[in-house]
Amino acid sequence: MIVAGNWKLHKSPKESREFLREWKTKDVRGLEIAFFPPATSLEAVGQELQGTAATFGPQNIYFEASGAFTGENSPAVARGLGATWALVGHSERRTLFGETDSLIAKKVQSALKHGLKPMLCIGETLDERRDGKTERVLERQLTAGLELIPKDAVFAVAYEPVWAIGTGQVAGPDQVREAHAFIVECLKRLGFSARTPILYGGSVKPDNAGELSRIPHVGGFLVGGASLDVSSFLKIVHACQTK
Ligand code: PGA
Repeated sequence: MIVAGNWKLHKSPKESREFLREWKTKDVRGLEIAFFPPATSLEAVGQELQGTAATFGPQNIYFEASGAFTGENSPAVARGLGATWALVGHSERRTLFGETDSLIAKKVQSALKHGLKPMLCIGETLDERRDGKTERVLERQLTAGLELIPKDAVFAVAYEPVWAIGTGQVAGPDQVREAHAFIVECLKRLGFSARTPILYGGSVKPDNAGELSRIPHVGGFLVGGASLDVSSFLKIVHACQTK
């Protein structure tokens, strides 16, 4: 399983170092732990994690490595700092920053080109779920997001229902089970490995992580709010270790 912390726009380099110095004293064997710090803390995180098994990456990359692209993050620079992952298509990028499926596809392709594993985030809004469009949305986001990469590419998918992100309203076990099973079917249909890790994200907390981790095809978690604090993130990790 992969347990990833999405720190969003939290933690300066100093705060990142303090978190990781405490984190490194904890026992997290048997799982892959990944951190997605803000771009300004990537270098500090890379330095702190050197020599550990934990991985990290940017929350967003541009599809070009350099050039006249004011304000963007270079995938090549992130790789140079030791990153192995890149989060792509997070719902906050899609809704607040207008990222489209076609832009996301280019970013997925660019991550791989620069030696980063993309973690493609997909998920339906509450209206889409109420209208019975969940599967259609997931299939569209997967098909479009993975359009430009080879079938043997190594990547992960994060299923994050938009209505569950940062709301405290976690998806129910049946909803997660159905969505993850559907994503596996889509990946197979598109010619990608059925063993591609599929993480669940959206209000994962210490008290729901255990139950969610036992659902078939849940290959880990992408954790926002509860990853900002060492003890709550550690409780989520421990819930996965005992699954
Ligand atoms: P949350 O965020 O755990 O705070 O709901 C998850 C995410 O946005 O990746």
